[in-house]
Amino acid sequence: MSYERSVSADGHELSPETVWHIQMPEIRFGRDSVEELGFQLGDLGVPEDAHGLVVTDETLVELGHADRVVDTLTDAGFAVDVYDESQREPSVSDVEDCVGFVRDEKGEEGYDFYVGLGGGSCMDTAKIARTIVANGGEPLDYVAEPTGEGEPVTNSGPPLVLMPTTAGTGAEISPVAILSVEEKNIKEGISSNHVRADAAVIDPTFTTTLPPELTAKTAMDALGHAIEGYTTHEYDSLMRATDPAERPVYAGRTPLTEMFSEKAIDLLSNNVRTAVHNGDDLEARENMLQGALFGAIAGLTAGASLCHAMAYPVGNRYHTKHGETIAVLTPASTIDYNSASDPARFADLAEMFDVDTTGMTNREAADALKEQYIQLQKDLNVLPSGLNELAGVTEDDVDWLAKQTVETQKRLLRTNPRPVTEEDVREILLDALHNWD
Ligand SMILES: [Fe+2]
Repeated sequence: MSYERSVSADGHELSPETVWHIQMPEIRFGRDSVEELGFQLGDLGVPEDAHGLVVTDETLVELGHADRVVDTLTDAGFAVDVYDESQREPSVSDVEDCVGFVRDEKGEEGYDFYVGLGGGSCMDTAKIARTIVANGGEPLDYVAEPTGEGEPVTNSGPPLVLMPTTAGTGAEISPVAILSVEEKNIKEGISSNHVRADAAVIDPTFTTTLPPELTAKTAMDALGHAIEGYTTHEYDSLMRATDPAERPVYAGRTPLTEMFSEKAIDLLSNNVRTAVHNGDDLEARENMLQGALFGAIAGLTAGASLCHAMAYPVGNRYHTKHGETIAVLTPASTIDYNSASDPARFADLAEMFDVDTTGMTNREAADALKEQYIQLQKDLNVLPSGLNELAGVTEDDVDWLAKQTVETQKRLLRTNPRPVTEEDVREILLDALHNWD
């Protein structure tokens, strides 16, 4: 069994944690908040004659979103270059291309500031590029062992502002940047508070162009953060950090994260149908973006768990999108398997999803939650019915996926609310092949 109990990490003592901590970028939210981007950078100490880089992708250039950001920045007096070659679910070589661009244009010093514009992939590319230029070396130096060298990131670098164009990943506030390591066929994260952006400017007018399918998929990721955050360990059931600097970035749920989870689930579950079926509805888009932000504040502080751990090997092998992978895995993992850790908590969750739990036992309520969640996915009409429809995954593939999950995702499995073995993961994957007929 490769599960490591949460009470066995280095740098911790065997008494319970008594302190929680939340670290966030400065957050500026609302319609046309892009117009305050220049002010935001000035507030972060960026001088008026500074030269910055906008990291984005070709689609966002074609949609005119990149121009909108560049115009705001040049109006504020900044010089700006654009790197528009961010790739979906970036690999080590993809982010090295961005680092190479920065070094070619500005040498080892790099730019005076960075703006990441797009979905999680663009924002993570911007986060990693700033980190590597500021700390030297290459991306794998800062990826945890055994895949990388596990060196700590010690320097945040110049200001980084992130602008999400999807309501989902939470990359705009998270301390993690995800990249795929192609030769090992796995996804890994560079995780440090120094990777976190200095500010997030979150403007719903950038999200109305997102097509229905991507809207649904990114929403399921956001909902996953909210649910996983709500159901993970409490911070004071984990071990006490002997040094505050050693406290993990995923440190368990707190009264604050619970509050954000509850509001996130309310906003996301009540607006996702409108946002998917009527993308121009700016109020629904604004609610979704707010829900995704709150879900990220909750889940990406308390900690994502089993479902996210399982999603990375699937995404890497089959090149599926993160959100759709989370969508097909959530019923069997986060809900069905993990509900045994604390059935009463999942009964509460069922009520948040508007299940009438009158007369139900907690276990029955958890089962009803699973059905309600699957119904939501069906209503969106663009999501796959399981791993099989998602990527042709069959019973023959689950052994490899289970092995990869327990071998490469210890960071996320360590804090899962229910201990999990390779055999458990295999069973969950079999369950997730078909969520409905
Ligand atoms: Fe996620």
